[in-house]
Amino acid sequence: MTRTWFITGANRGLGRAFTTAALAQGDRVVATVRNPATMADLQHDLLTVLTLDVRDRERVIDTVNTAFATTGRIDVIVNNAGYGLVGAVEELTEAQIRDQMDTNFYGALWVSQAAVPHLRAQGSGHIVQISTVGAVGSLPLFSMYNASKWALEGFSASLADELRPFGIHLTLAQMGGFDTDWAKSSMKFGTELPAYTEQRRALFGMPDYWGPLFESADGETPPVESTEPGPEVAAAEILALVAMPNPPVRKVIGPGAQQMVTMALDARRQDYATDPEFTWPA
Ligand SMILES: NC(=O)c1ccc[n+]([C@@H]2O[C@H](COP(=O)([O-])OP(=O)(O)OC[C@H]3O[C@@H](n4cnc5c(N)ncnc54)[C@H](OP(=O)(O)O)[C@@H]3O)[C@@H](O)[C@H]2O)c1
Repeated sequence: MTRTWFITGANRGLGRAFTTAALAQGDRVVATVRNPATMADLQHDLLTVLTLDVRDRERVIDTVNTAFATTGRIDVIVNNAGYGLVGAVEELTEAQIRDQMDTNFYGALWVSQAAVPHLRAQGSGHIVQISTVGAVGSLPLFSMYNASKWALEGFSASLADELRPFGIHLTLAQMGGFDTDWAKSSMKFGTELPAYTEQRRALFGMPDYWGPLFESADGETPPVESTEPGPEVAAAEILALVAMPNPPVRKVIGPGAQQMVTMALDARRQDYATDPEFTWPA
């Protein structure tokens, strides 16, 4: 059975890998990107490229409607567009915080909202929200990234229950680390306060936010090589996920990612366990 996909942020990283993997197995893809020129190298009969910045709600609604009108039906909606914002809460500006929420949370919300009436009319479909293991736990200096993905997970868990009676699936794909531009050129940073120097050093192994790690600081020192798997590894798992007859609401994806989720859940449980009123079911 072939499928039709709608993928946001499809030009690079995970979104590009999902797009090429779906096309390679004979599926049709509506790929949305902010700059269509970034897709010029990918020509395919089954590929439609639409321009979309997910922060623009009106454009999201128009684009989703156009995609359904063009293809007739869409089986898989992948809310992938997103980026990471790093910095202590007090290091971040209002504009940075709002943009993080507009992209990672509202962007996925607007696409989901626009797609649901079409999926209900079809009586089928699968919304895949590209989330993170950081939506189970949290890290210092990642508060707003955590917040945006926890918000994504909160509305999506509820939406999964709303859509089940209509035969529509929703999965939170909780990704571990993959070698994309996420931790490189895409990442945005707060303005460093000296008070957080030691936390930066503990977390990232350096006193500054990370230009020097991935981009040669002096033009001579080579940047650190990523040890994370490539995005095609994630794409294979997403293809397998959407092929499942009864996909789960949460799917952890990536080497070592299950362990991160286990540790986050255990830390939460231990925190509650300091309250003697708490007992666990046998
Ligand atoms: N890589 C990881 O380790 C990892 C782990 C957990 C979760 N994730 C999540 O995976 C998703 C994809 O990230 P990635 O790793 O593939 O990073 P990436 O290589 O930086 O790609 C990010 C994609 O998101 C797009 N994007 C950003 N803001 C957008 C906006 N306002 N409207 C439309 N598109 C926008 C980018 O488009 P432009 O090219 O126009 O900037 C790009 O296509 C994100 O939601 C990220 O949080 C990644």
